[in-house]
Amino acid sequence: MDPESWEDPLKYDPERFKDHNIEFKDQDFRFLPFGGGKRGCPGYAFGLATIELGLALLLFYFDWALPQGDGADDVNLDEIFGLATRKKTPLIVVPTANKDYEFKAF
Ligand code: HEM
Repeated sequence: MDPESWEDPLKYDPERFKDHNIEFKDQDFRFLPFGGGKRGCPGYAFGLATIELGLALLLFYFDWALPQGDGADDVNLDEIFGLATRKKTPLIVVPTANKDYEFKAF
C-alpha cells in the first residue's frame, strides 16, 4: 500500500500487476504475498499450484457473468480486514457450463 511503490495503492486494480514482472518470492519488497526471508512461507509452491489449478478448472469449464441487470460498477469491492482480507459482501456470479467441453467429475 506504499504510494511510493504503487500508483493509487488503495484502488482495486489487479491490472496494475500486468506490466510488472515482479518476483513475488523474497526479491521484490513491493509485493510479498508469501512474506520473505527466513520466515517466508515454505508452502508457497503448493499454495500457488492449488489456487491455479482450482481457478483454471473454473475458468475452463464455465463461462462467468454477473446476475442479469448488474454491471461491473454494481460489484461492491469493500473489504473486511482480519487475519486474512476478504470481501465484505459475497460476490454473486452466474456460471454457465461451457458447451464445448464435457464436464467430468473427479
Ligand atoms: C496461497 C496460499 C498461501 C499464502 C498466501 C501464504 C502466505 C504466507 C505468509 C504471508 C506467511 C508469513 C511469512 C512471513 O512471516 O514472512 C506464511 C507462513 C507460513 N506458511 Fe504460508 N501461505 C500459503 C500457503 C501455505 C501452504 C499450502 C502451507 C503448507 C502446506 C503453508 C505453510 C506456512 C508455514 C509453515 C508458515 C510459517 C513459516 C515460518 O514462520 O517459519 N503456507 N505463509
